[in-house]
Amino acid sequence: MTAVAAYEAGLHGANCWVYPGDGTRQALPVHRWLADADHQDALIVAATVEDLSGASAGSVLDVGCGPGRLTAAIAAAGAMAVGIDVSATAVALTRARGARAVRADVFGPVPRTGRWDRVLLADGNLGIGGDPAALLTRATQLLAPGGRVIADVEPAGGIRRTQAWIEAHSEEPDGHRRIGGPVPWAWVGLDAVTALGEQSGLSVHTVTRSPGRCVVVWSVTS
Ligand SMILES: C[S@@+](CC[C@H](N)C(=O)[O-])C[C@H]1O[C@@H](n2cnc3c(N)ncnc32)[C@H](O)[C@@H]1O
Repeated sequence: MTAVAAYEAGLHGANCWVYPGDGTRQALPVHRWLADADHQDALIVAATVEDLSGASAGSVLDVGCGPGRLTAAIAAAGAMAVGIDVSATAVALTRARGARAVRADVFGPVPRTGRWDRVLLADGNLGIGGDPAALLTRATQLLAPGGRVIADVEPAGGIRRTQAWIEAHSEEPDGHRRIGGPVPWAWVGLDAVTALGEQSGLSVHTVTRSPGRCVVVWSVTS
């Protein structure tokens, strides 16, 4: 069974954990992702829709949208928001909220490539694929000229790349079952964001913080 199957079991209510490769085990916060966006999300939603008002509401691609709480919040703020996710369950849950979502791998074919005003990498999604420079470079390909990338990062530190493991325990009629699999991931700290952007043709536009979040906005270097 794969990491995606374990994550999807978590979205369906099974206990779900991540082993981030440092000897610890943490509960995957799927309950938070299944809930609606809250006050802790206000900072990243505001940073995403900043300067998008006007005649054109602007388009936002929420990469790794999960069950879509941020896709929905950004759409409610007036933008044309679409989530993409490799998980069919996540896409279905996003649509069930009334938000738009497409099942797609960010490194594969993505609708409207080269035409997105904003690419959002929320909830640590700068770690997708385990190579943040490659992901940021991919994000610049998805963006329209003048576009921006928004991501939350650790408040300090550099980049830690790892092979994480996602695991879920599901209760089956015939007993307890453990499913899971590896997932390449990376954790990015604030100290790395300038150099990381430069490698991908991006410059840091803003850094904003709240007690629960540190949000970086990069713009395409002209
Ligand atoms: C940390 S969770 C994000 C939670 C989400 N932001 C939310 O609000 O619920 C990471 C998400 O990225 C998705 N994902 C992982 N690799 C991906 C890829 N290559 N392309 C698109 N989505 C991916 C996972 O399926 C998962 O839903």
